[in-house]
Amino acid sequence: MSEHGRHAFHERDEHGILVRPAVAADVPHIQRLIAPYVDRRILLGKENVALYGSIQQFRIAEGPDGVPIGCGALAVFWDDIAEVRTLALDGDWIHKRVGHRMLEALEHDARELGVARIFCLTFEVDFFAKHGYLEIGESVVSPDVYAELVRSSDEGVAEFLDLARVKPNTLGNTRMLKIL
Ligand SMILES: CC(C)(COP(=O)(O)OP(=O)(O)OC[C@H]1O[C@@H](n2cnc3c(N)ncnc32)[C@H](O)[C@@H]1OP(=O)(O)O)[C@@H](O)C(=O)NCCC(=O)NCCS
Repeated sequence: MSEHGRHAFHERDEHGILVRPAVAADVPHIQRLIAPYVDRRILLGKENVALYGSIQQFRIAEGPDGVPIGCGALAVFWDDIAEVRTLALDGDWIHKRVGHRMLEALEHDARELGVARIFCLTFEVDFFAKHGYLEIGESVVSPDVYAELVRSSDEGVAEFLDLARVKPNTLGNTRMLKIL
């Protein structure tokens, strides 16, 4: 049986983990989940207003007791490229394949949206490499698309383009790309 849409993966696995679309009430949980990584400059911090405004991009991993233990988002940049961003797990749940399930769900979302390439900017190179992401150099879009993307006010787009103003955010990160 195949499932479609945002509710694909909408069942608990054998460990009681559910990966579901985010709802507005998840925003405080997303802030809680990303805070330790934002503090360590591993993830970019987000204002609540930005999280509410992009809540449809997010998926939440729910623990067996229904409490969110992970989050992640897929942001579409252009007709054939999106970014996996703000992927974060509660420290108690690291290395239990929840990240794997969340990434699979976000890749499903990309396919549903008709996007064939997924970018990420990360310190977790091994995790993404094991999921088929390859390190890339500076630009993977044409000059025409670059010229349009540069008009975006989104920090993630600026990081994707490697703009000078966001270089302090991206120091030490690896740029990676997967073709679905
Ligand atoms: C990146 C991140 C989401 C990965 O999530 P995760 O759930 O720990 O990852 P997984 O468990 O799916 O896979 C990690 C490893 O654990 C292994 N693993 C899975 N279950 C395991 C278990 N029960 N016991 C031991 N290892 C296990 C996996 O095989 C994998 O190992 P491998 O890399 O050698 O194959 C998580 O580490 C995180 O939140 N990082 C901080 C934020 C960040 O950098 N995000 C990415 C940028 S957007």
